[in-house]
Amino acid sequence: MSSSYAFIQNEFVPLTEAKLGVMTNFVHYGTGVFEGIRGNWNAEEKQNYIFALEAHYQRLLDGCRVLKIDLPYSLEELCQITVELVDKCGFEEDIYIRPVAYKSSEALGVRLHNLENNFLVFAFPWGPYLPEKVKCCVSSWRFPTEIPRAKLTGLYITNALAKTEAVDHGYDEAIMLTPDGYVAEGSGENIFLYKNGELATPATYDGVLVGITRNLVIKLAADELGIKTTERHVNRIELYNAEECFLTGTAANITPVAEIDGRKIGNGEIGEITAKLQVIYNDITQGKNPKYADLCTPAHNRIMANN
Ligand SMILES: Cc1ncc(COP(=O)(O)O)c(C=O)c1O
Repeated sequence: MSSSYAFIQNEFVPLTEAKLGVMTNFVHYGTGVFEGIRGNWNAEEKQNYIFALEAHYQRLLDGCRVLKIDLPYSLEELCQITVELVDKCGFEEDIYIRPVAYKSSEALGVRLHNLENNFLVFAFPWGPYLPEKVKCCVSSWRFPTEIPRAKLTGLYITNALAKTEAVDHGYDEAIMLTPDGYVAEGSGENIFLYKNGELATPATYDGVLVGITRNLVIKLAADELGIKTTERHVNRIELYNAEECFLTGTAANITPVAEIDGRKIGNGEIGEITAKLQVIYNDITQGKNPKYADLCTPAHNRIMANN
């Protein structure tokens, strides 16, 4: 039987038993670094493939440096704990894995120093995060570029404000702008537009989260479709005039954008290039493309699967 487990305070427990004290510093001040990792179920192989495991933990450790979180686990140990967790959960469906490195002292006070650090991770079944194609609006909430772009829990309050504003107004997702008015990203995704045979996406100097999906899509577009991506400032008006637009992220995968601020993108249907990238990406994440097998970590029967 499958059920959710968590690894917390150095042991595996059923998810329902994984608790934090109410005075935990992280709960009050957002002093945590998190990741979102997907496990993709491959029905033919009866295997759950954890996607880009090492890259996610490398980004988590980079964020830990920002928040002065010194974890008692190495990159390899974090990966190992996660594989064991997913194996233990035994889900035969797509899952989401949420690791958090956090200031664990039960001590109030706004600071990063003189606090203990800890790590937890849990997994649960999670299907599509967004609809098949989405309606977006440009958010009135500006995206903070001064704060380092790691996945810091406290930073996500702007994203939450933007997302709920969008949903309250009948849209599926928000697109945030930088303080100087350039397109930044969705509340949980990077954004791409396609026009005149090329892709463009906001550059890292605009302070966007450097998405693992974003980087892979840039590579796949070049290597598999011969399409160049330019990382640069993107203007809001360019979005309206794009032939295609899509969002990328671990939760959202590649999600076509059908409409922005009440204007159809292209003909409002899933674009040709977007659809091609979706097929290539989905095959890779489900462990069906041997060329990219090193990005997929099998969670079950590891010794057999590796031979
Ligand atoms: C704000 C934001 N931008 C972009 C992304 C996409 O990053 P990735 O592709 O690494 O999941 C995410 C999700 O992690 C996010 O939260």
